[in-house]
Amino acid sequence: MGRLRVYELAKQLDMDTKELMHELEELGIEVKSHMSFIDEETVNILLDIYKQTLDEEEELVEATKKESTKEKAEAKKPPVHITEEDLRLDKFAEKIKVPQNRIIQDFFMRGEVLKPGQPLSISLAKKIAKLYDVRLTFEEAEPKEQVVIENPLEELKRKFEELYKDKDKLVPRPPVVTVMGHVDHGKTTLLDYIRKTRIAEKEEGGITQSIGAYQVEVDGKKITFIDTPGHEVFTEMRARGAQATDIVVLVVAADDGVMPQTIEAYNHAKSANVPIIVAINKIDKPNANVELTKQDLVTKLNLIPEEWGGDTIVVPISARNGTNVDTLLEMILLVAEMQDIRCIPDEPVRAVTIETKLDKGYGPVANAIVKDGVLKVGDYVVAGKSYGKVKALIDDKGRRIKEATPSTPVMIVGFEELPDPHSIIYVVESKEKAVEIVEKVKELEARELRKKRQIKLEEILKKMQ
Ligand code: GTP
Ligand code: MG
Repeated sequence: MGRLRVYELAKQLDMDTKELMHELEELGIEVKSHMSFIDEETVNILLDIYKQTLDEEEELVEATKKESTKEKAEAKKPPVHITEEDLRLDKFAEKIKVPQNRIIQDFFMRGEVLKPGQPLSISLAKKIAKLYDVRLTFEEAEPKEQVVIENPLEELKRKFEELYKDKDKLVPRPPVVTVMGHVDHGKTTLLDYIRKTRIAEKEEGGITQSIGAYQVEVDGKKITFIDTPGHEVFTEMRARGAQATDIVVLVVAADDGVMPQTIEAYNHAKSANVPIIVAINKIDKPNANVELTKQDLVTKLNLIPEEWGGDTIVVPISARNGTNVDTLLEMILLVAEMQDIRCIPDEPVRAVTIETKLDKGYGPVANAIVKDGVLKVGDYVVAGKSYGKVKALIDDKGRRIKEATPSTPVMIVGFEELPDPHSIIYVVESKEKAVEIVEKVKELEARELRKKRQIKLEEILKKMQ
């Protein structure tokens, strides 16, 4: 089975999506919504664990039914202790002191094919044990001595933090502005107006389903915009959008007011600790009510407009007609200036991932915004568990570029596999270094997963006893 979205996995496990999300949380697997992807390895382990749990529960009921009728004497035989390590046919055979071949033959006679050394599920191990009247107890595996691996991504991150301490070496970069708000409140139309294109009209049902990034120039100053979807299912993208930005423009339609995703977007901006500018949109509509919308901002978000004595910049606009969009852009530049947004000029290089996808022509690509340094074609990059050599950089107008400076949105082509959309992309000195980092990250993740699996296994075993 490949990677699955949460709701798809829930279907596979015959579980309620909410229930599964809760379970995943308990297992320490972070999911933002029912649309979030779960990687292939985790999917398989979960399928394994939960299918086993179901089998075991059924068997447990069976076993307890029979227990009372069973000969008491039989139960007196000392049980055989096994660990997760013993869940292989050859090892298990050794443990229960029955030759592996005999087990294979006996099962063959019963119409079940076992292979030498094959991995065993707990239920299969119990079945085998039952055939030879062996009682099993499960024990935690001896903790193996493990070499401590430092997370190489943390190491990379620290390098940047160190450099950021020396403020004199940093240079200004264009602001990254994320446009957020409730579905249909006019985010894409606003960006269309600013870019003078017609993206909103081309979208499926007029609903944005991914996040895009574009750079524009206003009075000779660059601004990078990130468009986010407003539909409720895209929480994760909104959270990511807020994390990658310097300023949030919260779009609120004047005929609708503050709605659930307005509040959600506001909370993302708050937790990312970025300044918010409110654009009250659709003021051209006859039923637009700017005053009421401002009251909404106060009562529902505790955002008090400047003209009411607060410190929130509120600009009433019409994204469709372009009314006041200039003022909004001025305000963005003003807030950006006050922020004093800076970066590391040449190297080291890192970029924030906005979105990753499998492109028909280009293969696995990442849409990212360069945060520090200059990203170049030919660079070796790592992004979480994925690495690659930058084969091409495509800008927001679809043109191939040789290098991307800070705050430039680019599509990075050349990853070996699809990078995690949450990852930071780092440039490293060589392919060897990239591979070394990725191997370590994978090993750390596998350890984490094994640990969680062990805990889950113990829970299952406890239930069985
Ligand atoms: P999602 O990305 O799906 O959350 O929507 P969105 O916020 O990007 O909204 P979008 O720009 O797609 O606009 C939704 C609808 O509102 C479209 O029909 C737009 O034409 C309309 N609209 C947007 N801005 C204005 C405006 O200023 N005035 C009027 N009258 N309509 C607008
Ligand atoms: Mg949109």
